[in-house]
Amino acid sequence: MQTVAERVEHQLTDKGYVPVYTTRVIEQPWDTYTATDHETWATLFKRQRELLVGRAANEFVENQERFGMSADVIPKFSDLNRVLAETTGWELIAVEGLLPELTFFEHLANRRFPVTWWIRKPEQLDYLSEPDLFHDLFGHVPLLLNPVFADYMQAYGAGGVKAAAIAPEALANLTRLYWYTVEFGLINTPEGLRIYGAGIVSSKGESIYSLEADAPNRIGFDLERVMRTRYRIDTYQKTYFVIDSYEQLIEATRPDFTPLYARLADAASHPAGNVLDSDTVYQRGTGEGWLSDGDV
Ligand SMILES: [Fe+2]
Repeated sequence: MQTVAERVEHQLTDKGYVPVYTTRVIEQPWDTYTATDHETWATLFKRQRELLVGRAANEFVENQERFGMSADVIPKFSDLNRVLAETTGWELIAVEGLLPELTFFEHLANRRFPVTWWIRKPEQLDYLSEPDLFHDLFGHVPLLLNPVFADYMQAYGAGGVKAAAIAPEALANLTRLYWYTVEFGLINTPEGLRIYGAGIVSSKGESIYSLEADAPNRIGFDLERVMRTRYRIDTYQKTYFVIDSYEQLIEATRPDFTPLYARLADAASHPAGNVLDSDTVYQRGTGEGWLSDGDV
């Protein structure tokens, strides 16, 4: 019986010390979830769903419902996988936690989405520095039912495998794309800006801050701009990038990035909070509360 994730070591990276887990794929040990685990899921689920009305992209909540996700109980990956198999062909796999980049990319390139099987402790409701089941399942999985976004995720994985073979700098450029779209993306809709990024929808504070605070910039998505922009891992983002549609993402990522990486290798990166003359500005942030250093 497994109740604790198998953590191998902590590894020093450019993001500080990060936990490294075994890369093996396991069966979701569903029977080992405790009443407290299910309660944690319920509390977070209810709280975020309430907050996300009128804030998250419509398909986000619609897709959670198509999956049959509810506050009642931690979903079984096998149930969600039946829905995925009938729609976009993705498959959820249970993992112990953050995976090495290349392993992660290879899964995505094969339409497998790694989901951390364990859920945070009750005292970690508001913040956890690494992905857990709530972040992965509540935040990432709903959009895998969107055919265009599902293709984008696969393309991203394939791009990651390629970038890893080019240079660490290429990988850093690509990571920024993931960060500013899959994790912290906003989308422009007829009803106004909405959240689609998993890092936002799984965070109480950032669900409000990303849309309503005066401090951050909200800037139209531009692939090269995003790939040049540093980001925050320890605070809310200074800048959010806004797409017009998921098609825009897949279109932007269709071309071969090799020449782009070469060009970016000679270009300076932009601090996370900068606004450029060439930007389409939805909101120029006041910068209130920003830390002056720490962009990665
Ligand atoms: Fe994530």
